[in-house]
Amino acid sequence: MSSELIEKIQRLKQDRNAVILAHNYQLGDVQDIADFVGDSLGLSVQASQTEAEVIVFCGVHFMAETAAILSPEKTVLLPDKNAGCPMADMVTAEDLAKLKEKHPDALVVCYVNSPADVKALSDYCCTSSNAVPLVGSLPEDRKIIFVPDKYLGQFVIDNTGRDIVLWPGYCPTHARISAEDIAAARQLHPEALVMAHPECSEQVRACSDQMLSTGQMLKFAQNSDIRQFIIATETGIIHTLKKQNPDKEFFGVSDKAICPNMKRITLEKILWSLEDMQYKITVPDDIRQRAQRALDRMLEVLPT
Ligand code: 13P
Ligand code: SF4
Repeated sequence: MSSELIEKIQRLKQDRNAVILAHNYQLGDVQDIADFVGDSLGLSVQASQTEAEVIVFCGVHFMAETAAILSPEKTVLLPDKNAGCPMADMVTAEDLAKLKEKHPDALVVCYVNSPADVKALSDYCCTSSNAVPLVGSLPEDRKIIFVPDKYLGQFVIDNTGRDIVLWPGYCPTHARISAEDIAAARQLHPEALVMAHPECSEQVRACSDQMLSTGQMLKFAQNSDIRQFIIATETGIIHTLKKQNPDKEFFGVSDKAICPNMKRITLEKILWSLEDMQYKITVPDDIRQRAQRALDRMLEVLPT
């Protein structure tokens, strides 16, 4: 059944001149049929450079919205219209406008996990791959507002020493990972290196070996001589880690680290999305142009 489904998707993909982009947290069979699998930064770059007319975005809403901002002439489809990101929804444009009034001289950096109208009110956008170098490149005498992830924001403060006003947002999936989970995994796999995502809490960060975006985790595992890894992020990435490193072992730190929104996208929904050309993600032009400015500035800063 699945191979029939995959054939139909491939055929329709050609007919529609579509490209399938998938985030590293997607279900394994979705990652396997994608033209490109990556982290938020890699997917943004792909979306801005593709020559396809249609982008089927296997991820969550803010990612498809980012693709629509960067490639306004393309049709961007999200196969499940309810695949949102609770962290992105923790800050609104109204919230940010009020915060800017309190700190009128601050530069605003928003994490890509944010709505388009928040990006439109920001000076810079960043992902977990480039948040530290991006903030580090800003003029030293300027205060910075960082929204919405307080944990990524604190990680940036600790790595840049900058004066940053944080917003109390967080990722509910990464918040489920605890320092106790790491300790228990270390007991089971004492030789393993712990890779954690900067969306994790400071307590988790304190007992991890490497803080990396999902794309950086994939590179690190491939380039390292270490053979065992404990993974403190959404479990979907373990699929690609195993596929790319058949001689190494990867242990998820917690089976609670599953993002239900990322898991909404299935092969069936991808097929229906291409058949019915839905759900189209668009951004009003005035918001889009201002949001694109923040994203373009991000794409000028190379990931570490
Ligand atoms: P990255 O893949 O950019 O590390 O981001 C993780 C994430 O939470 C996306 O929602
Ligand atoms: Fe949002 Fe967290 Fe899911 Fe990423 S893992 S999409 S930050 S809820």
